[in-house]
Amino acid sequence: MIEVKGITKTYKMGDSEFQALKGATFKIEDGEFVAIMGPSGSGKSTLMHILGALDTPTSGTYFLDGKDVSTLSDDELANIRREKIGFVFQAFNLLPRATVLRNVMLPLVYDTVKRSERKARAEEMLKAAGLDEDHFNHLSNQLSGGQIQRVAIARALVNNPSLILADEPTGNLDTQTGEIVLGTFQRLNKEQGRTIILITHEPDVAQHAERIITIRDGNIVSDAKNLHQIII
Ligand SMILES: Nc1ncnc2c1ncn2[C@@H]1O[C@H](COP(=O)(O)OP(=O)(O)OP(=O)(O)O)[C@@H](O)[C@H]1O
Ligand SMILES: [Mg+2]
Repeated sequence: MIEVKGITKTYKMGDSEFQALKGATFKIEDGEFVAIMGPSGSGKSTLMHILGALDTPTSGTYFLDGKDVSTLSDDELANIRREKIGFVFQAFNLLPRATVLRNVMLPLVYDTVKRSERKARAEEMLKAAGLDEDHFNHLSNQLSGGQIQRVAIARALVNNPSLILADEPTGNLDTQTGEIVLGTFQRLNKEQGRTIILITHEPDVAQHAERIITIRDGNIVSDAKNLHQIII
């Protein structure tokens, strides 16, 4: 499904340039659960933005489901994101004054389906992400970190994406709540066959994936099956 070949990313700032990715090559098949791990500043978010069709590489190619994403226009990239990809960002960007349900329904705003159907779909995703029904009509600023994280996951799922990209999804959580969130990803992967790419700087978090790609200073330094996967 994902095939990147020699992708680089150079950021220009005034007269200076910084190469955040120095040539990444790998494939990720449908239904894999992969962690991308590396220290702060190693290029993880840069890579996630490219894989998520939020940005294009400076050089190299990226094929997603056989389509060369590196050459697409902004509109075409937006279509790919809407149709195929669910994002869980570290800064969740929930609307603070909107209810949980409204936040999850938001990505469906362009859909032609009826409001009642959008609501039903949002409720289904919130249940799948493990949020208690009592909280569905709370405002998002009335929730705990772990609950917000589950709403963010539900929102990422609501457009039925085949690929879920999560950037430090457990970054602000205590260990126990983090485990619940990681368990949710494992369930979505195993039971629904969704491809999951989990970005983290923490080895303990990466251990929950089936495969770990390690990145350092913009280079992929290892890419291997995780023989010690922690299953929740
Ligand atoms: N828009 C930008 N302009 C210039 N430099 C950037 C830009 N975005 C990122 N960088 C630089 O590229 C490098 C990689 O950044 P990136 O955000 O990909 O790191 P990261 O691995 O996600 O780090 P963290 O774990 O702290 O989130 C960093 O040195 C960063 O300063
Ligand atoms: Mg980052």
